[in-house]
Amino acid sequence: MEDWQNGGFGLYIHWPFCQAKCPYCDFNSHVSNTIIEADWQTAYLSEIDRIATLTQGRLLNSVFFGGGTPSLMSPELVNAILDRIRARWTLANDCEITLEANPTSVEAGRFQGYHDAGVNRLSMGIQSLRENDLKALGRLHSVQDARKAFDIAQKTFGRISFDLIYARQQQTLADWSIELKEALDMAVDHLSLYQLTIEDGTAFGDRYKRGRLSGLPTEDTATDMYFATQEICNTAGMSAYEVSNHAQKGSESRHNEIYWRYGDYAGIGPGAHGRVTINGQRYATDTPLSPALWLEKVRKTGSGEGSCTKLPADEQLTEFLLMGLRLSEGVDLDRASDIQGKDFIIQNKYLSEDGLIETENGRLSVTPKGRPLLNAILRELIP
Ligand SMILES: C[S@@+](CC[C@H](N)C(=O)[O-])C[C@H]1O[C@@H](n2cnc3c(N)ncnc32)[C@H](O)[C@@H]1O
Ligand code: SF4
Repeated sequence: MEDWQNGGFGLYIHWPFCQAKCPYCDFNSHVSNTIIEADWQTAYLSEIDRIATLTQGRLLNSVFFGGGTPSLMSPELVNAILDRIRARWTLANDCEITLEANPTSVEAGRFQGYHDAGVNRLSMGIQSLRENDLKALGRLHSVQDARKAFDIAQKTFGRISFDLIYARQQQTLADWSIELKEALDMAVDHLSLYQLTIEDGTAFGDRYKRGRLSGLPTEDTATDMYFATQEICNTAGMSAYEVSNHAQKGSESRHNEIYWRYGDYAGIGPGAHGRVTINGQRYATDTPLSPALWLEKVRKTGSGEGSCTKLPADEQLTEFLLMGLRLSEGVDLDRASDIQGKDFIIQNKYLSEDGLIETENGRLSVTPKGRPLLNAILRELIP
């Protein structure tokens, strides 16, 4: 058995376009009015064929259309991609096929088409249930649009998640607690709750540097918001199974679990990363960020791959810990030893004495108390 099989195998398809660029977002997303879907279809199908040859005979556990805004793709394009995937791999019985959607009315009109194409899970970027905050976040939808799109999604898909961003400008702990409870009243089986991060190279990043991003909560308030989030979600039966992800038992995102359980995934599209094991060696792959360059590369060379790098054992162990310790289930210690080729030993005794990590039944996990200190804990654990 190869190590990736502990985590499964998935495909990530990146659609790099959005209707507008949100001021906080540093994802690989672009605004363009010259998108020729037929060209994109040709390139995606060609990449699917290439990757299928490398991973022949595997069972596919998940497909994820991420972005950018994949709900700007036509259902016909999504269907063509999924048809080719179905022709190239055997899909697991419970294969999860997720598409990220923005909740505008136009996009909601495509939900049925995505469902008919084979999408069985929708992940909606609602971001906030407060009108002013949606404006401040540069979103193109209103709260009412989001609720309407969510209703349509509920009638169409069995599994729905939505994203909210907290620790926003002018938001207090009390504001967030009320908003989160409203969100939990809406929620179906999964929620992603992200603390706003200010990223370099974004409009928020620039404003922050110039001291023009007012009213952000202090670090202490943001930490209080994080703990309140855990408490409110636990009470509602939507505990965190990962730092920012909450689900009812059994409704965890299988695709994200492939990343966090250090399975294999192929990345298709501009800027998509992959981890793929070939002949027992794990490789890290990437692709050009620029949509035009990626398209041209696929067309001219028959491959969208930018780089394909052998991952040495120590880097694999680092990635395995970085990913796995985000999950409340933690990591299997035997796997850690197998990956690095020698016994994995926890050097720092204080971490467990201070109740920040625990080991049980051969697994190592970060405790709820340790979770806000995850990065510092990782620095201590990584040999
Ligand atoms: C690829 S994006 C979303 C897809 C979709 N285009 C949308 O906006 O709904 C994934 C999610 O990351 C979150 N996100 C992006 N930038 C963020 C930031 N700077 N801080 C916190 N969350 C962020 C948002 O919640 C967003 O929905
Ligand atoms: S948050 Fe979503 S819609 Fe906004 S720019 Fe990023 S990917 Fe596009």
